[in-house]
Amino acid sequence: MAVRNTEQYTAWNGPEGRSWAAGAERDPSETELIDRLLDAARIGKDDRVLDVGCGTGVTSRSAALRAGQVLGADLSAPMLERARQDAAGLGNVVFEQADAQVHPFPEGEFDAAISQYGVMFFADPQAAFTNIGRALRPGGRLAFVVPQPAQECEWYVVPVAALLGIEPRPKTVVAAYPGQAPAMFSLSDPVRIRQVLAAFADVSIEALHVPQWFGRTPAEAAEGLLGTGPTRYLLERDAALTRQEAHARLCAALEPYAGDGGVTLPGAQWLVTARWTGGAAAR
Ligand SMILES: C[S@@+](CC[C@H](N)C(=O)[O-])C[C@H]1O[C@@H](n2cnc3c(N)ncnc32)[C@H](O)[C@@H]1O
Repeated sequence: MAVRNTEQYTAWNGPEGRSWAAGAERDPSETELIDRLLDAARIGKDDRVLDVGCGTGVTSRSAALRAGQVLGADLSAPMLERARQDAAGLGNVVFEQADAQVHPFPEGEFDAAISQYGVMFFADPQAAFTNIGRALRPGGRLAFVVPQPAQECEWYVVPVAALLGIEPRPKTVVAAYPGQAPAMFSLSDPVRIRQVLAAFADVSIEALHVPQWFGRTPAEAAEGLLGTGPTRYLLERDAALTRQEAHARLCAALEPYAGDGGVTLPGAQWLVTARWTGGAAAR
């Protein structure tokens, strides 16, 4: 397998990927976000769909209920193992370990490419999206969800502030910790999104505010946050902060967000759609 994104490969095949793969329940609110994504991609019953950065396959499985055939592609072996287990009953979804930036997907094979939070991690996003485009038939649809800027994302500001031991004021928190580059927020600027989609036509960017679910209780949510994402990096980075203290701080910060449905924080996403024109848009 050709891998160009070696840092991401290491992260997603290491502790980050293992934590995701071991995650028990998944976010009930994802149904809403996934439905929005699949509606935007206009997935129909005969469509061949590529799910980029499919992770444990939550979007691939939903797509498979609407589509003819789904290929979930991801860098992470542990997450794909979980994806294959969870999709065992579905006959029209397969998974492949691949770096979507450079993987030689069959040209013109797919009617649609989708991604939920799986396209922010490319070292060369323009090359990656062009590679994904080549896998689409001319006129094929691209639809993906990425986070809006960190200061708009309460799910980022609140836990990060708790670990930094500061007030959850968005600008202060983001100035203190902008997130590990080049990931998570690399496509949070719509101008940047349009740049990296230079080879596509009809680019549209819609703001969504779908809440994000983190666990059934603050303790479970804190556990998940310490195993993944910016909060995991912060814990690793701060030698003076014990896991126990970090867990206690997160529980206290998340308590106000706990309700009957679990711990849910406000989210802010961009829903992006575009059409592949065989690369003509770039010429
Ligand atoms: C935040 S997770 C999202 C997973 C999944 N889409 C979901 O919604 O649960 C990001 C995923 O992108 C994958 N990823 C990152 N860079 C990638 C690349 N270059 N090619 C393929 N997958 C990639 C990671 O391995 C990880 O599974």
